[in-house]
Amino acid sequence: MTANKKLQQWVDEVAALCRPDRVQWCDGSQREADELCALMVRNGTFTPIPARPGSFWCRSNPGDVARVEDRTFICSTSKDDAGPTNNWCDPVEMKTKLRGLFQGAMRGRTLYVIPFSMGPIGSPIAHIGVELTDSPYVAVNMRIMTRMGAQVLEALGGGGAFVPCLHSVGMPLVAGQPDVAWPCNPDHKYIVHFPEERAIWSFGSGYGGNALLGKKCFSLRIASIMARDGGWLAEHMLILGLTNPQGRKIYVAAAFPSACGKTNLAMLTPTIPGWKAECVGDDIAWMKFGADGRLHAINPEAGFFGVAPGTSLHSNPNAMQTLTRNSIFTNVAFDAARGDVWWEDMTDQPPARLTSWLGEEWTPGGGKKAAHPNARYTAPAAQCPVIDPAWQDPEGVPISAILFGGRRPTTVPLVFEALSWQHGTFLGAQQSSETTAAQAGAVGVARRDPMAMLPFCGYHMGDYFAHWLKIGATPGVKLPKIFYVNWFRKSADGRWLWPGFGENARVLKWIFERCAGTGRAVPTAIGWLPTSDALDVSGLHVPPADVAELLSVDQAKWLAEIPAIREHFAKFGARLPQGLADELDALEIRLKL
Ligand code: OXD
Ligand code: MN
Repeated sequence: MTANKKLQQWVDEVAALCRPDRVQWCDGSQREADELCALMVRNGTFTPIPARPGSFWCRSNPGDVARVEDRTFICSTSKDDAGPTNNWCDPVEMKTKLRGLFQGAMRGRTLYVIPFSMGPIGSPIAHIGVELTDSPYVAVNMRIMTRMGAQVLEALGGGGAFVPCLHSVGMPLVAGQPDVAWPCNPDHKYIVHFPEERAIWSFGSGYGGNALLGKKCFSLRIASIMARDGGWLAEHMLILGLTNPQGRKIYVAAAFPSACGKTNLAMLTPTIPGWKAECVGDDIAWMKFGADGRLHAINPEAGFFGVAPGTSLHSNPNAMQTLTRNSIFTNVAFDAARGDVWWEDMTDQPPARLTSWLGEEWTPGGGKKAAHPNARYTAPAAQCPVIDPAWQDPEGVPISAILFGGRRPTTVPLVFEALSWQHGTFLGAQQSSETTAAQAGAVGVARRDPMAMLPFCGYHMGDYFAHWLKIGATPGVKLPKIFYVNWFRKSADGRWLWPGFGENARVLKWIFERCAGTGRAVPTAIGWLPTSDALDVSGLHVPPADVAELLSVDQAKWLAEIPAIREHFAKFGARLPQGLADELDALEIRLKL
């Protein structure tokens, strides 16, 4: 089925181990996708959504609803190389255990061979993977999320390299055993990465990042290792294009932890006249230096796998339009009367009657969520009304600014600019977001999530910081400027100080102007802040006192952060680069001046 001997040999080996009834090489065609969807309608996995052509509603097993970080492993030969932020297991031991689990795991099922490219096929920034899975749900999702099928096999040729990604839902069927709508193995989940081999083995879960192995497993965990070794960056970042009223355009990449509005920013509609924002990607950026010495970014994905609850015509009209067709909705609710899906906050008023994500009858006011909080849509990026014209450019788009940020009701101003690349790396390394009521545990605690990569960095985070510093020290390059933003600042009496959403374009405008060399700024202990007149607040109904508070630096509160940052950095021991320790000391000195 392929001229690539290594691939054929691996498929044969996996088939011999997992014993599927059939092997199907996916060509990525519409016909193949239609057949797989029809199969899943027949077996009860999918329900067509009449209001959205080509779209399906799907409910998972309630024990398989999210990425499982405690079951995610980095199996480097040395434990030290996985670092303090990853679960580690000896690779030989893990392989022995997994081989036992995979043995006969695909009995009664089809093994789908899914060749995929992360990034435009043939792009010098892209890389190829092949996922072997026994899940047709994974196959149709991978077709949306990646460039998948025959063209990839062609690009791979006889000798091309690929990242092998092995996946099973871990529920073999013995003769005559009826299948279930969402097969999985909730008690034996393993999401495993072998960094030295650059291989991924995932068992037991069919959901999201656990099973769509091109996304977090390949594009972040394994790619972060490839990037370290190859002198590039694989980051948990959206990419957007920003055009000013004179038609000048820059591209910005931004890393925020989950629940900080990454997809909303990636698709924002600016409120300021004449400005245009366009989306290249909402989750992952791969950046390599181009011949011009600038970092060029591609979105390795071809679709959006977004959280549905909270998405509405108010919060993200462009996402809502993207989802009108050819999309898969997992763990949302179904409104049989309208023949459509629904989730919390999609509309002001919920429908009178729904089928919940659990398949139960649901009426408003019962105290239960109709959709699971991590319910997802899978939708083709090409359907986004503000998709950037260059989103498939094999050379990537040149990045002028990198943003870090998080949800911080106090302390952190609306926006500030790093003093240097090293200072910007420090800002990313100490990045934090406050926990909300949506998460178990204490509310309002600043949780450190360096570069929003805490669950996604495939190696020792101290080495990852050192890699960032090394990128900054590449001779002859023109680096992006680094900024830190916080849309979530609150007043002393608990009011949001900043309206967010499309108004964030005002902050992007200042960032644009800083990149163009025209934006006004004042130096402070934490970095460059906009001068009081530099942020465009024309037509914005925010009192001047609130704007002043948003742009103020509270020295005492920042000083109180220092011990927490020291404690966070201490976790990385001797692998914390000296440059970051120096930045922390320098910040403390500047704050005490
Ligand atoms: C995601 C995540 O699903 O970051 O994108 O968890
Ligand atoms: Mn993400």
